[in-house]
Amino acid sequence: MKTIVYYYSHKGSNKYLANKIASDLNCEIEEIKPILNAHLLMIMGLNLGNQKLKAQVENYDRIVLCGPIWMGKLIVPLKNFIKKHLNIINKLIFVSCCGSPFDKKDEKFGHNLVFNQVKQLLGEKCIVCEAFPITLVLPEEQKNDTDAFMKTHLNDDNFKGEIVGIYNSFIQKIQK
Ligand SMILES: Cc1cc2nc3c(=O)[nH]c(=O)nc-3n(C[C@H](O)[C@H](O)[C@H](O)COP(=O)(O)O)c2cc1C
Repeated sequence: MKTIVYYYSHKGSNKYLANKIASDLNCEIEEIKPILNAHLLMIMGLNLGNQKLKAQVENYDRIVLCGPIWMGKLIVPLKNFIKKHLNIINKLIFVSCCGSPFDKKDEKFGHNLVFNQVKQLLGEKCIVCEAFPITLVLPEEQKNDTDAFMKTHLNDDNFKGEIVGIYNSFIQKIQK
């Protein structure tokens, strides 16, 4: 099965996660670059589209799409990617290192809302959605501290403990 990982990352966590997935799947990886990479403007709705990709999406059996969540929405660069390639995507796995923890996944800013948006756009082509809340790498006393999670980014030093178990199960699931 030919797979490629596409990712967008503003602060680096999703870049870290995307690289890890590509390395474990031994597959290609490409960054999605918005024409204007201004995250606050994109959150406010500005959408000038993405830059042209190097790889041809139609050449892959499976896409892993990875990126953050902002304000409970599917972010502009990822939405552009899905809409542009809707007809040529075969299967898509959606992955996010986000802020919302599992117990808040259905709340206003929860990752499930975004997963539902992706499933609505792609229907059965979306085969897996997986969240890696950044709170997983925070000590217990900081898990509800918004300031702490906004300042924390995935890296080799903090990618340990609970998140590793969840990540390994995810890789096993998609390697089948
Ligand atoms: C402006 C802003 C809004 C955010 N809104 C949400 C949200 O609604 N839900 C959520 O789960 N995480 C939210 N987050 C947290 C990011 O998804 C999280 O920090 C992510 O790991 C950042 O990924 P990156 O380092 O790849 O850019 C928000 C972050 C920012 C900066």
